[in-house]
Amino acid sequence: MEQNMQLSKLPELLIPWYDKNRRDLPWRIDREPYHIWLSEIMLQQTRVEAVKGYYSRFLQAFPTIEDLAVADDERLYKLWEGLGYYSRVRNLKKAAGVIMVQHGGAFPKGYEEVRALPGIGDYTAGAICSIAYDLPTPAVDGNVLRLMSRLLNDPTPIDTPALKKQITGILANIYPKNAGAFTQALMELGATLCGPNTKPDCANCPCATICEGYRKGTAQSLPVRRPKKERRVEEKTVLILRFGDRYALAKRPPDGLLAGMWQFPELPDKLELDAVLAEVEQMGLKPSDILRQVERKHIFTHIEWHMRGYYMEVSNPTDEFNWFTAEEIDTVAALPTAFRQFWDEMKTFQQ
Ligand code: ADE
Repeated sequence: MEQNMQLSKLPELLIPWYDKNRRDLPWRIDREPYHIWLSEIMLQQTRVEAVKGYYSRFLQAFPTIEDLAVADDERLYKLWEGLGYYSRVRNLKKAAGVIMVQHGGAFPKGYEEVRALPGIGDYTAGAICSIAYDLPTPAVDGNVLRLMSRLLNDPTPIDTPALKKQITGILANIYPKNAGAFTQALMELGATLCGPNTKPDCANCPCATICEGYRKGTAQSLPVRRPKKERRVEEKTVLILRFGDRYALAKRPPDGLLAGMWQFPELPDKLELDAVLAEVEQMGLKPSDILRQVERKHIFTHIEWHMRGYYMEVSNPTDEFNWFTAEEIDTVAALPTAFRQFWDEMKTFQQ
């Protein structure tokens, strides 16, 4: 890593720019630690525009940490439906319970206690403590890593844990008193002018004067990334089974991918119709009409699901599944996007 002797100027360059250019976002209205915590959890892996609506609906449903600690799981998961990475919401509830039991219902005020809560890592603890309490605790996410690798002209691949540690140390040394503004200014610049997937807008950047990547003309080619590992592909058959005005759903197991969410029944592999009919009869169901077959994919971090969906009517229900009305599927059941796409598709050919 190159030395950047002017880096200590970063707060004085960045904060006035942030004050002038910051986006109005719902989690910037106040500095209530519960609100900052929730927003930072939602913003992991998820775009700001997508988070806005979820954030407001969630706080309306659970205005306090106590409300969250005793939340009904079905309602909680429904409010997270479509955001993905559902372990985040399970950990939110778990941490709310810890706050009620171990901290008397008040969000903890020290970095170590915050960091010890379920679902809170270095980044989130740093973000909460700096934004809510003005503690000099850096929050180094992908945006900040990109920005810093350019400022320092550092070719180390940004998914290297040692680099994150090093950048955290460098930032901790230059944190100003208004730590919350500095954390958010770093994120804001890393998300906008120095953002991903676009050419850095160095002409308008408040930090260009101290940026080694700008000075050497390397900013655009940074950060360096290691090639991604290939995702494992799983093929499956998804059954959208209708009995009268009800549809079969099954609850996913309490552990693992999409734990505790609802899904349409599935079978391993992409099956042909005759094999599907045989399997459905094995389940004790009598298919009476086949309506459609569609192919869909869903991509998770490490797995891709390649799915073939069959829409069929059956002339009897079975206890193996829960039979929901369309309204219940829309308003009550938390059906993750991988399966919900089959539901949305159905609305295009059925009234
Ligand atoms: N990304 C992560 N945290 C953020 C925040 N507080 N504001 C905007 N984007 C973010």
